[in-house]
Amino acid sequence: MATINDNYLKLQGSYLFAEIARRVAAYKEANPDADIIRLGIGDVTQPLPAVCIEAMHKAVDEMAHKETFRGYGPEQGYSFLTEAILRNNYEKKGIHFGTDEIFVSDGSKSDTGNIQEIFGAADKIAITDPVYPVYLDTNVMAGRTGTMQEDGHYAGVTYLPCSAENNFAPALPKERVDILYLCCPNNPTGTTLNRTELTKWVNWAKENDVVILFDAAYAAYITEDDVPTTIYEIPGAKDVAIEFRSFSKTAGFTGTRCGYTIIPHNVTGKAADGSRVEYNKLWNRRHTTKFNGTAYIVQRGAAAIYTEEGQKQVKELVGYYLENARIIREGLQAAGLEVYGGINAPYIWLKTPNNMPSWDFFDKLLKEVNIVGTPGVGFGPCGEGYFRLTSFGDREDTKRAVARFQNLKF
Ligand code: MLT
Repeated sequence: MATINDNYLKLQGSYLFAEIARRVAAYKEANPDADIIRLGIGDVTQPLPAVCIEAMHKAVDEMAHKETFRGYGPEQGYSFLTEAILRNNYEKKGIHFGTDEIFVSDGSKSDTGNIQEIFGAADKIAITDPVYPVYLDTNVMAGRTGTMQEDGHYAGVTYLPCSAENNFAPALPKERVDILYLCCPNNPTGTTLNRTELTKWVNWAKENDVVILFDAAYAAYITEDDVPTTIYEIPGAKDVAIEFRSFSKTAGFTGTRCGYTIIPHNVTGKAADGSRVEYNKLWNRRHTTKFNGTAYIVQRGAAAIYTEEGQKQVKELVGYYLENARIIREGLQAAGLEVYGGINAPYIWLKTPNNMPSWDFFDKLLKEVNIVGTPGVGFGPCGEGYFRLTSFGDREDTKRAVARFQNLKF
């Protein structure tokens, strides 16, 4: 008799964004004429940069001819892409990796979700609270946690609270952990960790033999000099950190799917016999076993952002969303709300008025002004009383949403 993975029964009802979609669909069915503005899930709205489209068209044409047709490619990514990434995002900062330390994939969600497979089943994880749900849920599925407690936390997980009180900079854990997830710029709070903060974490990881899983999917949005765009700017990070990057928010690839993960050879973990083993080797084994490579056409599109024209177009695209973030941030402030983020990130994290519970605020916004956002508590108990808006909307929709906020009675 087949049995189930009982760990799945520990998970909460449904994935956060699926639950939001369900509630919005129900509202829309009951109110078909409602003019809903969606600033909930962080999905982009603007077309792909022209350089990507051009490169992908060319790649499609290559597929039409026997001489240039491609079947399976290298699982780790074509060298035209891996070399362009390393040159542009790392070597220009004096950070060097071999092409066997980078793995191209179908995006950061998959990689940040799958990476836990190469760690011991009994390893202790630490996550911030609030947190991008993928890190936690995938560890629940893998059985690395106990059940959900009354306080909304899973047993066996170390939570690092982040709120306005600590400026969204988590404190070092008091107990022993083996794996730490950090997301910077942060999803959901839109806040960042500066060089000093990140140095603190890298030093702590080195001293305590911890691996940092560093999600830098929003690195392209960093505008302040004091915020590193890669954790490898911090001395020693190559010994303890695995970094995840994505083309989704950088170049509009949410539907096109492309990301990559850097696993330096120096990052190792202890095997049962006491020897140290490179996570890079384990991930390579996993990747080649379970993944057949990102589509050639997509990789050509991704590589195009590293041309001079591509860099210009990507800068414009990110600038568009950052301007939306400014409009939301300032508009909400003018409406009397307390807001965070939106300077180095496409997310605005706001305090709900009068400490209204996050889901109540979600319902109020949906019903009274037809705006969809994301309840902060959906990212963890410390997100209760907060709410997230994305700046990935269309400019006109963003302006209309802000105007609707001005009319909202708190
Ligand atoms: C979000 O809204 O948090 C993001 O869209 C999630 C993701 O990129 O998977």
